[in-house]
Amino acid sequence: MTLLDSRLPLVAAPMAGGPSTLALAGAVSAAGAFPFLAGGNLTPEAMAADIAAARGLGTAFGVNLFVVPPGEIDEEAFAAYVVELGEDAARLGVALDPVPHRDDDHLAAKLALLRENPVPVVSFTFGLPPAAAVSALHEAGTTVLASVTDAAEAGAAAECGVDGLVVQGPSAGGHSATHHPSRSPGPIRTEELVRQVRAAVDLPLLGAGGVDGPVAVRRILAAGAEGAVTGTLLLRTDEAGTSRTHRAALADPAFGETVLTRAFTGRPARSLRNEFIDRHHDTAPTGYPQVHHLTRPLRRAAGAAGDPQRLHLWAGTGWRSAPERSAGEVISWLASEI
Ligand SMILES: Cc1cc2nc3c(=O)[nH]c(=O)nc-3n(C[C@H](O)[C@H](O)[C@H](O)COP(=O)(O)O)c2cc1C
Repeated sequence: MTLLDSRLPLVAAPMAGGPSTLALAGAVSAAGAFPFLAGGNLTPEAMAADIAAARGLGTAFGVNLFVVPPGEIDEEAFAAYVVELGEDAARLGVALDPVPHRDDDHLAAKLALLRENPVPVVSFTFGLPPAAAVSALHEAGTTVLASVTDAAEAGAAAECGVDGLVVQGPSAGGHSATHHPSRSPGPIRTEELVRQVRAAVDLPLLGAGGVDGPVAVRRILAAGAEGAVTGTLLLRTDEAGTSRTHRAALADPAFGETVLTRAFTGRPARSLRNEFIDRHHDTAPTGYPQVHHLTRPLRRAAGAAGDPQRLHLWAGTGWRSAPERSAGEVISWLASEI
């Protein structure tokens, strides 16, 4: 089966929190890649508005949703983290809400909307949708993808009836798609993970994580993936909605490495290493979305103040190769060795 209706075997990752824009989707799609909209962390109404606008592109596109796995947070650890973050909050002049908040990112409402207004592709991350939701999307004519980070998750995804998998390696920028946020994914190259998953399940695969140029794309395709996904390399493009502080940090040689950390949101996510991570990485509790909601005002204030030391600076291991160019040029460059 062919998962994606695009000229090139390249996919622009969904990037919630600002970077994914309609302009980015339009530019990558015009250059031949398959674009994703980020449906996570949006209200259903905002997602519907993005989809309505994307239909105007006249090309196929995908929508990505979060499936937040159940799991309560350790209340004592959460309370201790609230205290620990007090100094950062005071520095930025924000008050932290000491009550843990849990929600499911409006999954049911978003699924209902996508059943009524079908889109070509829906992908899920963080967990698996109920099999009934997959069937309903199929009935609406939608191709369904699940993001996985190991062969066991791939097996579970195959059982729930999805059409293909996004195999995300730990070098990926932003949140790990892991279905088990208390585990820290061990190091493995994306192409190797693609091979492992390919040996375990008989589904078409896309490989994501650590793409730093055309050679990485070629390796992921050679491992048997139908497409290579890129996120980080699009973050500094003209069309991305990446914040000014994030963009500047990606280009700043003072940032020397990326780390997978729960410090910002309670689930592993890869960010440029900054002072917030140095202070809180070892003590941050597992618990998404509770930690995400706790730190959100702090991160917003850091962004507004232009403070890269307290902001989540999502970046994959290939960040140094992220060019300040148009998204179309980045896609053409990535396609140059296919
Ligand atoms: C800023 C940013 C935001 C992201 N947001 C999402 C998201 O909303 N949903 C999702 O499935 N993956 C998200 N990801 C992960 C990407 O889908 C993809 O796995 C990753 O970007 C690929 O690795 P790379 O960044 O090294 O290219 C995000 C990544 C970044 C860098």
